[in-house]
Amino acid sequence: MTANPTYLGHDLTPEAALALLEWQIEMGVDEPMLDAPVDRFDLPDAVEKPRRPAEAALPGMAAAPAPAPRPSAGEGPVIEVLVAQAEAAAAAADTLQALADAQERFDGIELKKGARSFAFADGNPKARVLILGEAPGDEEDRQGRPFVGRAGQLLDRMFAAIGLARDAVDAEKSLYITNVLPWRPPGNRDPSPDEMAMMMPFVRRHVELADPDFVVLMGNTPCQAALGRRGILRLRGHWARAFDKPALPMTHPAYLLRNPVAKREAWADLLSLAEKLDAAGV
Ligand code: URA
Repeated sequence: MTANPTYLGHDLTPEAALALLEWQIEMGVDEPMLDAPVDRFDLPDAVEKPRRPAEAALPGMAAAPAPAPRPSAGEGPVIEVLVAQAEAAAAAADTLQALADAQERFDGIELKKGARSFAFADGNPKARVLILGEAPGDEEDRQGRPFVGRAGQLLDRMFAAIGLARDAVDAEKSLYITNVLPWRPPGNRDPSPDEMAMMMPFVRRHVELADPDFVVLMGNTPCQAALGRRGILRLRGHWARAFDKPALPMTHPAYLLRNPVAKREAWADLLSLAEKLDAAGV
């Protein structure tokens, strides 16, 4: 029996080849070249292995828990108190399961009352790539898993094209997926700054415990949360640092569904991620 050909260092099984072809056709790929030439004899030998995340607060987000002011009697807790409570709960969690339990128990956020379910994460926590999205939509709220609606299905096809899948058993080929918010905002509105500030301690700890090699920031909300910047059409494709990891902003698959022409840049971003994965090795 002949061996499968390889693609980006992975076995190109017939299923993977079909997924790759479907994604390329969907994006209108009609030539096997990028905009700029790549000198493959001049690629860096290896990418520096990321160090453990620092405790520093991220730009644009609420600072780490300064001594929280006591709420006065009769008032609801002020946001600083709630953020400090979230920090303490997240810091006390030593495993992803403990973190999920702590976040689910956190009562400071009103969204929890209106959501049907708590969507913590999906995929393989040992994956080298962690995808950070915005918040559950309707289907995610029903199923309690991130990215399972139409946008999630496109996300799966996109990453299958570079040999990665959330259900892959092999950590090398798998994905881990979570969101800034684990509860659905009503009407899919944007998360408020207070909601993000309360959830970021959990997100930071989540990334710290999963410890991926690379983070993909899927759309504006995760860029705002992790980089303190919006403007995904300018940010996309430019590697940054978030959670003390190399982080790649990409356009959200929901945007790609509405603007198929943007899939071309998304493909370039996926190739950039695949190249980093290859260069970093295991
Ligand atoms: N959009 C997101 O950002 N996350 C989801 O889980 C679903 C849609």
